[in-house]
Amino acid sequence: MQDNFKALKISDNVYWVGAIDWKIRDFHGYLTSRGTTYNAYLIIADKVTLVDTVKSPYMKELLSRISSVIDPKKIDYIISQHSEMDHSGCIPEIINIINPEKVFTSVAGAKVLKEHFDFDYDLTPVKNGESISLGNMNLSFYETKMLHWPESMISYLDKDQILFSQDGFGLHLATYERFSDQLPEYLWFEEAAKYYANILLPYSKLILKLLDTLNAMKLNIKILANDHGPIFRGGDIFKIISYYSYWATQSPTNKAVIIYDTMWNSTELMARVIAEGLFSAGAIPVVMSTKVSHRSDIITQLLDAGAMVVGAPTINNMMFPEIQDVMSYVRGLKPENLIGFTFGSYGWSGEGPKQLKIYLEEMKVKIIRDELRVKNVPKDAALKECFEAGKALGEIIKDYPKCKFL
Ligand code: FEO
Repeated sequence: MQDNFKALKISDNVYWVGAIDWKIRDFHGYLTSRGTTYNAYLIIADKVTLVDTVKSPYMKELLSRISSVIDPKKIDYIISQHSEMDHSGCIPEIINIINPEKVFTSVAGAKVLKEHFDFDYDLTPVKNGESISLGNMNLSFYETKMLHWPESMISYLDKDQILFSQDGFGLHLATYERFSDQLPEYLWFEEAAKYYANILLPYSKLILKLLDTLNAMKLNIKILANDHGPIFRGGDIFKIISYYSYWATQSPTNKAVIIYDTMWNSTELMARVIAEGLFSAGAIPVVMSTKVSHRSDIITQLLDAGAMVVGAPTINNMMFPEIQDVMSYVRGLKPENLIGFTFGSYGWSGEGPKQLKIYLEEMKVKIIRDELRVKNVPKDAALKECFEAGKALGEIIKDYPKCKFL
């Protein structure tokens, strides 16, 4: 283990020393189809500094990569930017092994780390805007509260002009390529959008504020070193920041996402005909069955949508369970500026679409019509109503800006 994992130099004084997780598929409910990385960085300064650590099962991989550059015991400082366990899980053990002079974290981070782990080490809290000297270079800290935890912070290394952005600008993608520009753009774009939708979407207003603050600070950023996936340099920094600005505004587009579950294919037929109506009006429908589409892919499609139409049959006086799972997840991520309606077929009581409507109301979706309910199997008249309902919605969104991806 000791000699097998190598660090990768990313700038004059900084090495990537993280871990690649090829097999993770469930990241607290988020389908990580392409795995992920836990990025950690080693700054070779007068005061040798480790920025973040990795998920605990990968601690030996982290130590091995550090050892390919320097004896880990020579690390003076550790920075914990974010207390979630994928970055802090091995901090107590790493402190025991390395015995660093200091471990810096935000004021809130010092509390959260102690709440997570049972260790006696005296952490050194840093305030928003505080800088520390590493001898021949400086590291400055900026709080990013609720991006995406209350204790989160980012750090800027002046000499190499690196912004360590923690989860911000991250993406779940296991690769040996360390920079986004070594990969096809569609690949990192897709995963960055999915990451934004599943992790950062509820905090979009804070993202816009942070982007303004960074802009006003006029930091020269040569490398945007995140904690997951490939990191950004050169023109890709501008691209990912532009995508964030766009996603954070949640501007509605001409895309309508139809989310549904079905029992005997009647609700599915309704979904398909609503899509035809939308398309006939000039909108772009995307139809997602909860039987085959993961909740984290559904919220990703909603990231740049203008409308959400949700359908479910009724079972035992309740909407189908899978759609409840999806709607609970989607509601928590707070997509905004959507319009839509609910639908579904039913046998006798038909509560499904009514219950879905409550979710839409809670999400402040502008509801353009009553629930579209069909008893048992939809016949010609019911299907015509589905088509017209889709068309009416399509007429409203067809002239919205074109969606950027499907
Ligand atoms: Fe990558 Fe919020 O942890």
